[in-house]
Amino acid sequence: MKQRVLLIVAHPMLEGSRVNRALLDAAQGCEGVQVHDLYARYPEQMIDVPHEQALVDAHDILVFQHPMHWYSCPALLKNWFDSVLSYGWAYGDNATKLTGKAWVQAVSTGGSESVYQRRGYNCFSVAELLRPFEQTARLCNMRYLQPFLTQAADTLSDEALREQAASYAAWLDQLAEGKWPPQVDSLQAEEAQYLAPASTEEAS
Ligand SMILES: Cc1cc2nc3c(=O)[nH]c(=O)nc-3n(C[C@H](O)[C@H](O)[C@H](O)COP(=O)(O)O)c2cc1C
Repeated sequence: MKQRVLLIVAHPMLEGSRVNRALLDAAQGCEGVQVHDLYARYPEQMIDVPHEQALVDAHDILVFQHPMHWYSCPALLKNWFDSVLSYGWAYGDNATKLTGKAWVQAVSTGGSESVYQRRGYNCFSVAELLRPFEQTARLCNMRYLQPFLTQAADTLSDEALREQAASYAAWLDQLAEGKWPPQVDSLQAEEAQYLAPASTEEAS
């Protein structure tokens, strides 16, 4: 079944970006994917909450594309969560607006996969570091899907980046076609690690 994908991009300096710029360029050609560049729309960081909620309302999947900044997301995206996911609309008694929608992140990290391990430089896996997002999605009754990761982003060769951008476009196409990556539920896992890529689940 076709799914309406809202791609919310949050990069504070997209003009200076190499990786997210390339991913975004690849995404522009994807059918059924609406691109929403938060820093371009809100240079003063004053979020139009009714507008954002109407956008969310009109889509089935929210994709948050952003670089990892201090083990989290850039500030405007945090601001977006704080203001758009309001009590009574996103969560709380009788709030059903987001129920059943999917939440998925496309995150680039400067660090490689090997530094995101218990004995590595960053001590925690990316899955563990993204748990506040996973729990936010859970509180909103959303399905939290395995993210699309671009790691060692600052040292990717041009060729590797081209391949990654093509994979991203294919991944977005699959989302729009209702073929979703596995749902993540860290409560079910001893060690929060993501499954090997490639497996998908049919959206229902
Ligand atoms: C303020 C700031 C904080 C960052 N924090 C992290 C971090 O916590 N972990 C990490 O792996 N990389 C971190 N990085 C590196 C970026 O994630 C990396 O440069 C980016 O994903 C590359 O994508 P781009 O070319 O689109 O900017 C940080 C970069 C900046 C500017």
